[in-house]
Amino acid sequence: MNLGARALARHTFSRVRPADRDGLPVAPGWLPGVGHVPALTYDMSWVCRAGDARGPLFWLQLGPGNWVIASIREEAFAVFRNRETSSGHLARDMSVLVGRSVLGVDGEAHRRMRGALNAPFTPRGLTAHKAGSLMAEVILPRVALWNGRPDIAICDETREFAVDVIFRMMGIEPHALATWRKAFETYSLALFPIPWDFPGSPYRRGSGAKRWIDGRLRAIADGERGQDPDRSLVSAMVNGRDEEGRGLDDEELIDNLRILVFAGHETTASTMAWAVLYLANDPARWKRLVDEALAADAPPTTPDALAKFPFAEGVFREALRLHPPVSFDSRLTVQPWSLFGREFPKGQVVGVALHELSRDAERYPNASQFVPERWLDRDKRPGPIETAQFGGGPHFCLGYHVAWLEAVLFLVAVAREFGARSMRPRIADGVFPKAVFMPLQRPPASARVQFVR
Ligand code: HEM
Repeated sequence: MNLGARALARHTFSRVRPADRDGLPVAPGWLPGVGHVPALTYDMSWVCRAGDARGPLFWLQLGPGNWVIASIREEAFAVFRNRETSSGHLARDMSVLVGRSVLGVDGEAHRRMRGALNAPFTPRGLTAHKAGSLMAEVILPRVALWNGRPDIAICDETREFAVDVIFRMMGIEPHALATWRKAFETYSLALFPIPWDFPGSPYRRGSGAKRWIDGRLRAIADGERGQDPDRSLVSAMVNGRDEEGRGLDDEELIDNLRILVFAGHETTASTMAWAVLYLANDPARWKRLVDEALAADAPPTTPDALAKFPFAEGVFREALRLHPPVSFDSRLTVQPWSLFGREFPKGQVVGVALHELSRDAERYPNASQFVPERWLDRDKRPGPIETAQFGGGPHFCLGYHVAWLEAVLFLVAVAREFGARSMRPRIADGVFPKAVFMPLQRPPASARVQFVR
């Protein structure tokens, strides 16, 4: 959407506004039927900031009948503690996707699953099952292929290798990657909220793909039973136990393997694409990254090796801060719960605009600028608001260290490949792209990058 269209949309959206609901303001940008979805998709910041201008809590409508209470303030982050709230709405509204994975369960069941699953996702676990080497096997040849191409559709590229990275970590052989990508694409058809089941319907095709995927995941999991958990991610997930010796049953295992693909690829891919776009806009910072990358022998393949690449880490964190892929995250109240002096009944969805938390001007000087240096020379670990892009509370992203290693490895690989040839990235049409916010925040598919001398 260009600037003229954006201004026109704001103007139109501002005019159509329902009355306040239950004594709370409705954010501007509402349209009959679709609620705030179109406005949020193209201009989440404007909708949320304009909502906040009318009070710390405001309503958003995320599709037919789906009214959510929203906030952009730090206090609202308390919703992720999951004492009075749960992720039950995800299991309810996205059951085909979420199933009985960690994303959709809470309380004791969630503690058991995370207890059994955490180990292979920690820095120690990633080192043990050599996740970084698998990432390098996928990413390095891919980046090398960019050389000589007139331009790169950066979102398609990062998405394709991010999904391959997860597949490789799940034990899928390189020759089968394209088949698996196709199967997951078809499976996505079953996620549309139109479950019309007839031959050839999206739902029927998606369900068929899911059966194919599940059958093969089961075979991979069966092959890992009783093996050393350190030998692979799947082995660790199959054989992992929580402190009380409890593991995952078969259905939980398959649902969790499947959710890794969805949770782990678009998110990381989007952040990597934004990082390249910012570097393409900023030759001085590109040079700093190249100097750091070329001073090392190779890109990092373990979390320990990241220590040599503080600037690349800063670039990753800053791209993530400016463009958190999950820009809005929510919870369902499971008992009456208060925020800003207002009590919500059980069964209310309450959400936080993580995108706005990440651009809070009081916390981040020059909040809308790309300043990777803000993350350098810090002696404290990042606090919960600084890592809010990965969620909070017990559902905090399981793949945090995976994403971190993958993105930094990728940035160092790009800097080494092109920096060694004195080439730099540049945005093909010279215009820094505007974000698309929903379902996940990402650059538009049209964003293209060139590597030039
Ligand atoms: C930059 C990259 C990433 C971002 C920004 C991100 C963000 C998030 C967020 C916000 C949540 C919380 C969702 C909620 O509870 O409502 C989450 C959960 C999760 N993420 Fe990530 N993620 C990223 C990469 C990954 C990767 C690479 C994986 C897997 C390899 C992954 C696996 C998961 C899983 C399994 C959960 C559910 C955890 C639970 O419910 O206990 N994520 N992520």
